[in-house]
Amino acid sequence: MPTELVHLTITDSIATVTLNRPDKLNALNGEMLAGLDAIADELDRANDVRVVLLTGTGKAFCVGADIFEWSSLAPLEMGRRWIRDGHRIFERYARLPQPLIAVLNGYTFGGGLELALAADLRLAGAGVQLSLPEVKLGIIPGWGGTQRLPELIGKSRAKQMIFSGARIDAAMAEGWGLVNEVVAGEELMARAQQLAGEIAANGPVAVQLTKQLIDGAEMASLEALAGSLASYTADAQEGVAAFRERRSPSFSGQ
Ligand code: COA
Repeated sequence: MPTELVHLTITDSIATVTLNRPDKLNALNGEMLAGLDAIADELDRANDVRVVLLTGTGKAFCVGADIFEWSSLAPLEMGRRWIRDGHRIFERYARLPQPLIAVLNGYTFGGGLELALAADLRLAGAGVQLSLPEVKLGIIPGWGGTQRLPELIGKSRAKQMIFSGARIDAAMAEGWGLVNEVVAGEELMARAQQLAGEIAANGPVAVQLTKQLIDGAEMASLEALAGSLASYTADAQEGVAAFRERRSPSFSGQ
């Protein structure tokens, strides 16, 4: 579903997805989740896109789920729709074929940090603060925070962030391996473009295969890979030729 609240631009094989609800610090509402979902459809099929940047407009990357929207949902709706939609859509971003770089331009809180955790790597502006403040509201970081954060920075540091809900600054996040690089705010996008350009100049299929290997390819991805490989063997050509000529195939194992 197209929405003004999330933009997609593509320039020179680099896509930029921008959360664009600056008056609410890019808090994620249902319209934005649907917009992210629709953009993931496009990116999944965009063979010309080699790297995806994900950032926000204004002084926040994203301050998390829209508190007013989710708090008005009935309990079962919260689980059936809100939480599951977030899981599914964030997982789609994690599984994009292209490398995904979260460019943290400002506050990265709650669901905003969980979305950033779905990226392959994160760059942060020097003044950025990060937190999972959900327990302060009496809820939990339920869009992947309890799973992806400990995987990235270890259980102990993840527990510190999640139990306290306290903010950490970009320097500490870098020290903990939560962000890859901290860059002066005004240079952040230029650095992100430069890194994206470096990646985009490399063999796109090789880069995408390494992403799948590092992340542990799902069975479906392995099947797709095996399917492409098998279809282009001499044996596959022989199998098709034999079918066309109504004879038994003679396979060579090549
Ligand atoms: N959901 C919905 N709206 C939010 C929001 C959220 N998570 N976070 C901020 N907003 C809205 C505010 O209600 C405000 O809207 P208004 O101008 O119509 O009143 C606007 O965004 C700006 O926020 P404000 O709090 O005035 O900005 P600030 O600079 O003083 O503080 C924060 C920034 C990030 C410290 C503060 O907004 C905050 O703590 N937000 C909640 C973060 C959070 O708990 N996230 C987890 C959600 S599950």
